[in-house]
Amino acid sequence: MVYKTDELHIYEKKVLKAFESLGFSLKPEKIAKKQKMDIKAVMSAAGSLESKNLVKIHRKTDYLIRLNDEGLKYAKEGLPERRLLNYLLEKKSIKMKDLFRESPFEKKDINIGIGWLKKKNCIKIKKGVLEVTKKCEKFIDKDFEDEKLLKELLKKEEIWYSSLTKDLKKGYELLKNRGLLDIKEKTTHVLEITEEGKKLLDEGLEIIEEATQVTHEDLKSGRWKRLKYRPYDIFVEYPKIYPGKTHPLRDIIEEIRKIFISMGFKESRGPIVESAFWNFDSLFQPQDHAAREMQDTFYLKNPKICDLPDEKLVKKVKDVHEHGGSTGSEGWGYKWDISIAKKPVLRTHTTCISARFLFENKPPVKMFSIGRVFRRETITYKHLPEFHQVEGIIASKDVTFRDLLGTLREFYKKLGFEVRFRPAYFPYTYLSTECEIYLPEKGSWIELGGAGMFRPEVLEPLGIKTPVAAFGLGIERLAMIKLGIDDIRMLYRSNIEWLRKNPLVKGIKLS
Ligand code: DAH
Repeated sequence: MVYKTDELHIYEKKVLKAFESLGFSLKPEKIAKKQKMDIKAVMSAAGSLESKNLVKIHRKTDYLIRLNDEGLKYAKEGLPERRLLNYLLEKKSIKMKDLFRESPFEKKDINIGIGWLKKKNCIKIKKGVLEVTKKCEKFIDKDFEDEKLLKELLKKEEIWYSSLTKDLKKGYELLKNRGLLDIKEKTTHVLEITEEGKKLLDEGLEIIEEATQVTHEDLKSGRWKRLKYRPYDIFVEYPKIYPGKTHPLRDIIEEIRKIFISMGFKESRGPIVESAFWNFDSLFQPQDHAAREMQDTFYLKNPKICDLPDEKLVKKVKDVHEHGGSTGSEGWGYKWDISIAKKPVLRTHTTCISARFLFENKPPVKMFSIGRVFRRETITYKHLPEFHQVEGIIASKDVTFRDLLGTLREFYKKLGFEVRFRPAYFPYTYLSTECEIYLPEKGSWIELGGAGMFRPEVLEPLGIKTPVAAFGLGIERLAMIKLGIDDIRMLYRSNIEWLRKNPLVKGIKLS
């Protein structure tokens, strides 16, 4: 491909131009200096010039050599074999035994010294007697190859491998194998202009500053007409940007909140640490109910007990449990124990928020709440010990079970799901139902929550005279389906990859 000069970026032109005056083969640092460019800009321009076959980048690997701590010690004190050799020359010959006994060296250094002197053909050992060889004589006043490099390095501190003489290269191998060097690999570059690049230079390269933006001044002065604009390259690689965003589970919670607000519900809250009274007793759940067992509920050591609401309410709840109060029901027929009701628990459902709300607010009301609930579940792909529920009530004199079904159908429809209802049982509702939604991809239905009309045994102690339609729905399972994940734990793992690629969930419009 032939390039026209005006297709080049100004930096590419500047780099090419440098070859005109400095020669055909250049170090990038030299170009940077000459053209007053950043070295990074030179290298990136060189990269694109290379892809256009106008420049060739030669990469050369070199090693910067230094002594490590041990190497430095030997450079200063002398190698163990040198010190041993000097000693041996004095003694002419010595028995191995005596060497260890008499010489001033440490045992370790003697061993190293003997090893290397043998390798360097400087000693022989006959019948336990050490002798310096003839061959070694030339090393009496001459350095071994490794000693030469050791001395050079002591003097210069660091040396490029490429600058070593043949001798020193041998020394390098020895010192490297003895582990006395600190070696750093470095890549250096040389840029060479290609024949095509030269041709382009011959045609003449004009360096005109290109405008990357048009300023107010340019427009006012009319300069914009004369400016040279660099064409946009829409194929250029760009770095991916990951904007900060809310967690997808938060988005879904927000979406649910908006739906209930749009349907005329008002939001309420309640505490996470709740008394068994509000979590169970006020909901006509008998005190020996299986859900209260330790394996299902988290009981707390601290606080030891919870305060209960006013005595009248507590008494009414007790009566209802024991014999049905004035509801006409028989109650559960057991002795209600206030100390059980005072136990603090991590709420196991958000239904306790509805009970509290009904005690404090008079119908007609439409209320929803969203919150975390806690159950002693073993963690699996579809179970968590801590999850979210959305709870709601409609309390009014004419509300019916059909209104409840219609409301839930409408809610799920707004979220994009089709819902169906199955008969169910909860101690606090009659009629009761469980909602299931349809998963078209799986071709099956899954259960998402419960609903029903609060029983008189719940309403009477709270002083509510109208019917109350109530529901409590799980959120995490909905989120799993909406986000297309098959492991609920994904929602609580900070898997940044997954979070990044997850699109922002579009909020629903308030109607
Ligand atoms: N509390 C129930 C649960 O956690 C769900 C539920 C059922 C809530 C019926 C209600 C209701 O308000 O009326 O499984």
